[in-house]
Amino acid sequence: MIELETNPATVAPLGGDSGPGLHLGGLRIPRYVLKRIVYVLLTVAGITAAHYGVPKEFIFAHSVLQHLYYVPIVLGAIFFGWVGGLLTAICVCMCYVPHVHDWVAQEPHYALNQYAELGSFLLIGFVTGILSDRELAVNGRLRQRSKELARANVELEKSFHHLKRASRLSAVGQIAAAMAHEIRNPLASIEGAIEVLEKQHEDTKLREEFHEIIRKQCQRLSGLLTELLNFAKARQPVLTTVTFGELVSEVAVLIHPLMTAKNNLIRVSSDSVGVSVRCDAEQMKQVLFNLLMNAQEASGYGGTIDVRYGLENAMFVLSISDSGPGIAPEDIEQVFEPFFTTKASGTGLGLSVVQQIVSHHGGDIRAFNTTEGGACFLIRIPVGQDDTDG
Ligand SMILES: Nc1ncnc2c1ncn2[C@@H]1O[C@H](COP(=O)(O)OP(=O)(O)O)[C@@H](O)[C@H]1O
Ligand SMILES: [Mg+2]
Repeated sequence: MIELETNPATVAPLGGDSGPGLHLGGLRIPRYVLKRIVYVLLTVAGITAAHYGVPKEFIFAHSVLQHLYYVPIVLGAIFFGWVGGLLTAICVCMCYVPHVHDWVAQEPHYALNQYAELGSFLLIGFVTGILSDRELAVNGRLRQRSKELARANVELEKSFHHLKRASRLSAVGQIAAAMAHEIRNPLASIEGAIEVLEKQHEDTKLREEFHEIIRKQCQRLSGLLTELLNFAKARQPVLTTVTFGELVSEVAVLIHPLMTAKNNLIRVSSDSVGVSVRCDAEQMKQVLFNLLMNAQEASGYGGTIDVRYGLENAMFVLSISDSGPGIAPEDIEQVFEPFFTTKASGTGLGLSVVQQIVSHHGGDIRAFNTTEGGACFLIRIPVGQDDTDG
């Protein structure tokens, strides 16, 4: 970091009263400096006038006035450092000496004290000025540092924006590359199947088999597009109060045929009857559907899926666990990334959609393996958020 030295005595007050000022030859004296000079001189003049005006018999008043001279001296030192302190003290001495001189004949002892005080005026002016110089220097350095910090902050913000833009662009690039990869495989299968059909269209069994391949790959492409659209839409949730158990039942009906085919069982439990939660019902059904589909796909024949939900410390908590093989430890960090899949015909978008919806609800989702070995997805959403349905 470059350290710029500033002349502390010329640092303008924070109020910024640095106006046009006075021009003396080539020298420009700022207005705030002029004002300070005037304050100091006026104070010295005022005290001196009082000194000469008060009759000599008021010794106490003279003593007070004499000590009052320290005020302009200290002011001069604070404003202009040791030079200002010393100059003000000299000015005070010059005003005061004729007055002390008058006392020599009448009260020589008192006059001697006064002369000694002149020395202390000069000392105080000088010492206070040195201290003030030091403080001004520290202040100057602090100002410089804070300017440098502000500059660094602006630079940091700029690079942060660049970084954000770069990471957005790289995310778009990654998604495009992953999509191209996802689409190319089914397209290649379809193309291959059509080629075979063109050559061997007489064979009815083969024709049926390859028609089936084409149909499946078309379904896969269509599924991919649906999930991609869900992912890209990412609208803000419209909150309504829903009885969560009803949502679970609606989604369970959708996957029921798949469950019965593998003799799977869903167990639903809740900490209290009729738990209702403020959420976007459609989006929450999508969350349940994606998680239950994954659980069902992971479960073997006769496997069970446990859905538990309830309220806990102002949070709606939902967990979906299954009796499948669980998530490989090296994959746990990646399962929410778009297009991450370990399935031959997976899209890798289901959990990204889930995570996006949950985070739009102000919540978070975590994946881990249970002690029994299956996977568990735990969602926590704060309750009592602002809603948009009035
Ligand atoms: N219940 C589960 N058990 C084991 N692994 C899971 C489970 N749910 C998700 N995963 C892992 O997370 C990956 C991503 O899931 P997802 O985003 O839904 O995409 P997809 O289901 O298309 O693969 C899956 O391929 C799988 O490896
Ligand atoms: Mg999935």
